[in-house]
Amino acid sequence: MNVLVTGASRGIGLGLTAIALKKGHTVFAVTRNPQALNTLQGDYAQSLVIIDADISQPLSLKMLMAKVEEKGGLDILINNAGMMKPDETYEALTESFQVNAIIPFLLTKAMTPILRKSKNPKVVQISTKMASIEDNTSGGYYAYRSSKTALNMLTRSLKIDHPEITFALIHPGWVKTDMGGDNAPVDVMESTQGIWKVIDLIAHKDSGKFIDFQGNEIAW
Ligand SMILES: NC(=O)c1ccc[n+]([C@@H]2O[C@H](COP(=O)([O-])OP(=O)(O)OC[C@H]3O[C@@H](n4cnc5c(N)ncnc54)[C@H](OP(=O)(O)O)[C@@H]3O)[C@@H](O)[C@H]2O)c1
Repeated sequence: MNVLVTGASRGIGLGLTAIALKKGHTVFAVTRNPQALNTLQGDYAQSLVIIDADISQPLSLKMLMAKVEEKGGLDILINNAGMMKPDETYEALTESFQVNAIIPFLLTKAMTPILRKSKNPKVVQISTKMASIEDNTSGGYYAYRSSKTALNMLTRSLKIDHPEITFALIHPGWVKTDMGGDNAPVDVMESTQGIWKVIDLIAHKDSGKFIDFQGNEIAW
């Protein structure tokens, strides 16, 4: 299958890319930092397509669609790239909504005509439990929480408007990455193996669910 992963240079994105390659998929690894994938490229010269792109630029979206079509289309889109800034400024809020909600939405919209040609198309949004309104009992993280909650809502509508595609909103756990920090209890391998299990098992009837990397449903 053909899989596209954004934010593929490190952390969860890199882990998801490595597992996909091991499973025999062709991976479009989208990153602003292509040299970080040099080692994987050595092992998977044929199946790893590194795309050096800043997906916030409209031209990049067009280039990406062309690359994917040229290589035979897309079966699984994984919107993984994300950012968390603790400050509450206009700039932090705007950038967070752009990276965490608007870009994944526009990339998904752009890819739907291509995904529709797949036999079993899936879109995975890497969300977070911190986007759950019900689960928010500690406050703070305004930009991060609200931008990911927006991602959840955008995806809910996408699921309704594109019933031919299976959507999943997945919380990866609290993971040891640049974002999650050293105190996180879950390592990248455990998280990404769990996410791939969820991706492989999710059926069309479950489209649009908000679940964690172990398959447990999360309250909205
Ligand atoms: N770690 C956790 O505990 C945790 C918990 C819940 C949810 N998540 C979610 O999991 C996803 C991956 O997080 P991570 O922990 O692996 O974080 P990370 O190590 O900080 O990696 C984030 C990735 O996102 C991309 N990215 C960051 N800022 C960007 C920007 N301004 N424009 C475009 N791309 C940008 C980067 O991609 P490139 O540099 O490759 O372009 C980077 O590879 C995120 O969506 C995050 O919200 C993480």
